This record gives sequence, structure tokens and C-alpha cells, in this order.
Amino acid sequence: MKIAIGNDHGAVELKQHLVNYLEGKGYEVVNFGCDTTESTDYPIYAERVSKAVVSGECDRGILICGTGIGISISANKIHGVRCALCSEPVSARLAREHNDANIVAMGARTIGTVVAEAIVDVFLTTGFDGGRHQRRVDMIMMLDRGESVQ
Ligand code: RB5
Repeated sequence: MKIAIGNDHGAVELKQHLVNYLEGKGYEVVNFGCDTTESTDYPIYAERVSKAVVSGECDRGILICGTGIGISISANKIHGVRCALCSEPVSARLAREHNDANIVAMGARTIGTVVAEAIVDVFLTTGFDGGRHQRRVDMIMMLDRGESVQ
């Protein structure tokens, strides 16, 4: 599985930790930056990772900023993205099972490395349940295309 990862200046250390962690587990990880603590703008990295996932270049995405909020909001503006902001692994599992999330976002200022590892582990290994959840995901994608679900 090929993983796209990106972050802003508030999450360089956690991103590098996760790159090493995931590569150690045999994942191919594509780093879309940033790699310095110089102030930058999280939508840049949200766009890069989102486009890599939506295009099929990468299978899943991981985005990290200070809180995970700005970078997840940005990612969800890109057509085809279902980005879930998670601060614990139960939400990461349900984001896959129920929402077929293709990108997980986390906050480097709100969670530690052990929780981040647990979140990415479950996010990358859990499948989509389908069934009634497929209908709802289809409706999300209708909203994504500007169509009404009423
Ligand atoms: C950057 O200072 C900070 O605003 C950003 O990392 C993130 O927390 C935004 O949602």
C-alpha cells in the first residue's frame, strides 16, 4: 500500500516519526512536505496529499497540522476526498468501516506519538463495511458534486 503524507510546520516531528514507523512496517510512503519548522500554510499540503489520493497515485493519505482541523477542512474541499480528523483509534476504525475515509488527519499538538501510531495502524488496515454505509457514502459524494440529497 502506498501512503501519501503531508503536514505543516507544527507537525514536522510527528510526520517524520510516522514516516519511519510506516516504512519500518513495509509501507511505501510518499512525503509531500513540509520538512522544516519555518511557518507555512497547511492548505498547500492538504492539496498535494488529496490530489495524490484522488488521482490513484497513492492508496491512502495522512495529514497533520497543529490541531488537524485546518488541514482536514482543506482536504475535504478537494473533489473525491473523505478526510476524517481522528484523535483516537476507534474513530479511525469507524471512519474506514462507515465512511470509507481515504485520508486521516491528526493534530500534532493534541495527540502523542503512540496514539498517532495506533490511529494510522487501524486506518491503514481496516476495510469499508459497505451495505447501508455505501448508500450514505454515495450521498456524501452527491454533496461533493453539488447535488442535493433531499
Ligand atoms: C498553524 O499555526 C496552525 O494554525 C495549524 O497547524 C492548525 O492547527 C490549523 O488548523
